Amino acid sequence: MKRSIYPKGFLWGASTSSHQIEGGTHNQWSEWELANAKRLAKNAPKKYAHLPNWPEIKSQATDPANYISGNGIDHYNRYREDFVLLKDLNLNAFRFGVEWSRVEPQEGQWDENAIQHYREYIATLRKMGIEPILNLWHWAMPVWFCDRGGFAKRRNVTYFERFVAKMSEELGTQVTYVITLNEPNVYTAFGYGTGDWPPQDKSLLKTLLVYGNLVRAHKRAHKAWKVQWPQAQVGAAPNFGNSKPLNRNPLARLAAGLANYIWDWWFLDRIKHQLDFVGLNFYHTNYYTARFTPLNPPTPLNDLGWYMEPRAIGPLLHKTWRRYKLPIIITESGLADAHDAHREWWITETLQTMENAMQKGVNIRGYLHWSLLDNFEWTDGWWPKFGLVAVDRGTMKRTVRPSARWFATEIKKRISR
Ligand code: BGC
Repeated sequence: MKRSIYPKGFLWGASTSSHQIEGGTHNQWSEWELANAKRLAKNAPKKYAHLPNWPEIKSQATDPANYISGNGIDHYNRYREDFVLLKDLNLNAFRFGVEWSRVEPQEGQWDENAIQHYREYIATLRKMGIEPILNLWHWAMPVWFCDRGGFAKRRNVTYFERFVAKMSEELGTQVTYVITLNEPNVYTAFGYGTGDWPPQDKSLLKTLLVYGNLVRAHKRAHKAWKVQWPQAQVGAAPNFGNSKPLNRNPLARLAAGLANYIWDWWFLDRIKHQLDFVGLNFYHTNYYTARFTPLNPPTPLNDLGWYMEPRAIGPLLHKTWRRYKLPIIITESGLADAHDAHREWWITETLQTMENAMQKGVNIRGYLHWSLLDNFEWTDGWWPKFGLVAVDRGTMKRTVRPSARWFATEIKKRISR
């Protein structure tokens, strides 16, 4: 039998974020939801009516309740039950967030109960033999921090650094893998570039300032953690897009090249000396025209209307490895697929592409699917279903999707090979 290309301890896991699943979070995002739910519901036809699944999602998407995270999927209280699901699915790693607004609800005041919660949470994962992958920032922030200007103010980076130092003191003995920032590019682009997301502060100047301050935030977080735990593996997880020219037109090529540089490399180039691994989040492929706009094939689409080309992760894995020579963890990859029609296909294509890359020497340490559970999909709310496990929010009942059962057997084959 062929020798396995999987190194010992390869991370087979799933990713989540605190605000999207915990329930009962109070942060800048939850406040924004309350102020904007009605508007989002009213705009739903404009945003989604072109989707083939519109008749199916219409009543939910036009209901303001869809846009409120509220009690989430009660993961804060049901985490033990959710970890059992991980075990059942043969997963050995779990990416989760520590909610900053819970542990530091007021500036400089630490909530000991919340910290103790995360200590027990991580200890439970460890006891179950699941590698905890701790994520420090996934867009949600304490209201007091945002009232002071959030990451638009350079001096505020110190607050984030202090939070990270505190978490490293309190939780550092229990974790090896830490992610400082999730998708700083997406947050900056939508919060300040297009102004569609909180804080809806559309400004080119602010976009540049925030992006620069997030570079500083990463560097200082990396240092703060490594000072106490030099052996820890501290990375960041930007969103990666595979941008390609639609044709041979030199302008289309230029557009794709620029999109790749700005989206995929600009941030990482600046932090590459303060990085132990690259976290790679992948969903999108874009074909650029000479007009500098994407024009993608009409199918296949996921439920959100995103064009799907899972194999396009391949070139990104190769280029990331060549550029940084750092281990890569696929920290997110997935799709909104309520009927579970494409998930098995998406994962099959992704695993084959990942295995090809590994065979060619790309150092990949793990695959973490987005997401373990159906969750709150930011400005789209509750209707998009990204979970390996479906959640009924009325009863909070979890139901494993067929693709997840299949994925579990695929993992088992690979582990025992
Ligand atoms: C984010 C997740 C989000 C997922 C699907 C990623 O960009 O990190 O929070 O749920 O995409 O949209």
